[in-house]
Amino acid sequence: MKLHRFTSPQKSKNIIYLIKDTSVLDQLTLLDREKEYIIFQKKESDKNSFCFNRLGFYEMIEIVGEDSSYADMEKLRKRGDRVSSFLTAENQGSVVLKAPEMEISSILAFIEGIMLGGYHFLPYKTKDEKDKSIMLKDLFIDCVQFTDQHLENFSNLMEAVYLTRDLVNEPPNKLDAAVFSKKMARYGREAGAWVDIYGKEKIIELGMEGLLTVNKGSKTDPNFTVIEWKPSVVTQKQPIVLVGKGLVFDTGGINLKPGNGLDTMKSDMAGGAAVFGTLYALARNKIPLHVIGLIPVTDNRPGENAMVPGDVISMGNGKTVEIINTDAEGRLVLADALLFARRFDPKLVIDVATLTGAAVAALGRFAIAGMQQDADSYMKKLIESSMRVYERVVELPFWDEYGKDIESDIANIRNIGKGKGAGTITAGKFLAHFIEYPWIHLDIATMAFMDGRESYMGKGATAAGVRLLYDFLERESVAG
Ligand code: BES
Ligand code: MN
Ligand code: ZN
Repeated sequence: MKLHRFTSPQKSKNIIYLIKDTSVLDQLTLLDREKEYIIFQKKESDKNSFCFNRLGFYEMIEIVGEDSSYADMEKLRKRGDRVSSFLTAENQGSVVLKAPEMEISSILAFIEGIMLGGYHFLPYKTKDEKDKSIMLKDLFIDCVQFTDQHLENFSNLMEAVYLTRDLVNEPPNKLDAAVFSKKMARYGREAGAWVDIYGKEKIIELGMEGLLTVNKGSKTDPNFTVIEWKPSVVTQKQPIVLVGKGLVFDTGGINLKPGNGLDTMKSDMAGGAAVFGTLYALARNKIPLHVIGLIPVTDNRPGENAMVPGDVISMGNGKTVEIINTDAEGRLVLADALLFARRFDPKLVIDVATLTGAAVAALGRFAIAGMQQDADSYMKKLIESSMRVYERVVELPFWDEYGKDIESDIANIRNIGKGKGAGTITAGKFLAHFIEYPWIHLDIATMAFMDGRESYMGKGATAAGVRLLYDFLERESVAG
């Protein structure tokens, strides 16, 4: 779906009015009896959404009230999604939004719901099926509060979310390690970022043992993708580094996943895609902050030469890791990237990964698990951003005791915990062995991919992390 500034009334006959209360009705081109109907219904039944059938098109009125809490903004996104789903179901291709006297924040939340709810992944539908239904694809904004700057910045962010979802939704036979990184490079460069893809030789040279070990069972080479956004004017000297897990498919390896655990594992590169999407949006919107994205990319398969439980490997910082379970592969590739991040002397590193099923068990699909070390105040700001965009982060305890669970008998650490429980935290504790800077770890296994439609987050890839990190970094660029 594309956003446009409204110019001529011919553009679309569908209209949505977003208003605070019934006193604004006088400004709308409705019949008197329609206005009376709305006032009556609102009083009698507290109905807030109205839709008039104009014989082939629709005029909709959404009454919002004065509320502006985080939860109220989320309600607006969901109402946007309902409107957009309705118009698509009615085969309407375009709509005009009018929002007299509304705050810009409410307008943006509503548009966000319309745009995100109106995402569809269609490359593998044949033309005959695509032609059968018209989808809402043009949204014209007729509001003075909505400036050209809003149009530009917001469109770019939505495009970043769409691109991220596309990458995650791509089937694993269409998006292997090479294709994934090439796509990120192409779109990243188009956005104005600097991108480099390190191949297997360079990865060997860099001693990325985790990535090489996970890749052993695969017929496809791994790669390590670096995306950098360094504008000429930056507000801070030290960069912020983002690390994203890029498992284009996770079979579990020799510890093969059971049947029902496999079908969504193309989404195991969602963290990497989110890092890409964030950098894409930062670059497109020329946010004055130096940000570097690191994405280790491979699949995890039970090949002839695959790693097996019991293997011991030596990581780039000299620490030895005993592999107990080959399905705990994400932390191995992330460790390499976290070690690599040290060379940038970052003021903060945030990693994003579909890391543990345990996070899903604990939090379901409505929260991201967050942990931090030496980054208490950043975490508070990140949580605030997470409420603003409603990709809500909950901080888990990260006490020393949890670290004991990954002590190994024969190596420094093992790649899964000994005891039962807290698998999300022990995964974080594993990563903590490889950091030397303020650090936040985000486990997005919960929210990255939806099995059923979840309002504007849709079904399938959600691009969780992109709106969150963009909001956090944009605010960080202003804070200086
Ligand atoms: N990619 C999975 C985690 C995952 C599970 C993501 C479900 C999305 C939905 C990860 O590589 C994994 O397999 N983790 C294991 C770790 C275990 C072996 C300690 C898990 O959570 O079962
Ligand atoms: Mn796994
Ligand atoms: Zn995985």
